[in-house]
Amino acid sequence: MSKVKRIAIASDHGGYELKNEIINYLKEMDYIYKDFGSYDTQTVHYPDYAFKVGDAIVNGEYQYGILICGTGIGMSIAANKIKGIRASLCHDTFSARMAREHNNANVLTMGGRVIGRGLAREIVKVWLLTEFSQESRHIIRLQKITDMQKPC
Ligand code: RB5
Repeated sequence: MSKVKRIAIASDHGGYELKNEIINYLKEMDYIYKDFGSYDTQTVHYPDYAFKVGDAIVNGEYQYGILICGTGIGMSIAANKIKGIRASLCHDTFSARMAREHNNANVLTMGGRVIGRGLAREIVKVWLLTEFSQESRHIIRLQKITDMQKPC
C-alpha cells in the first residue's frame, strides 16, 4: 500500500497530546506529514486549525488530513464547511474503514478526550491504508454532495 500519501495534521489544545502520539505513528510508518499546530496546550480555537488543514488539502498540497480536538466534533463540523472536504469523525476501526471505502473521506477527525492512544493509532492505520472502493453507487452519492455545493 502507498506510503507516499502526504498528510496534513493539526489539533487544538484538547487534541494536542493525542496529535503528538499520531505524529509519532506517522514518523514510525514513514508517512510524509506537516504539523499545522497548535504547538502546545494553550487554549486555541479549533476552526482555525480545521481551515488550515482543509485549505492545504483542497489546494493540492496534501492528500489527507487528520484533525484532533477534544471530541473530534468541532473539527469535523468546521472542516466539512470547506468545499471539497469530506471529514469523517471515527472512534472505531469499522467506521475508519467505511469512511475511506464508501465515503472517500479525505479528513479523519478524532477526539483526544474520547479515545486512548492505542485505539487512535489503529484507527489512523486502517483509515490511511483503506482505499476508496470506486463502486458506482458510492461515486453517484459523493457526486450528489459535490453538486449540492455548486452555485445554482
Ligand atoms: C475545547 O475545549 C473543545 O471544545 C474542543 O476541543 C472540541 O472538543 C470541540 O468540538
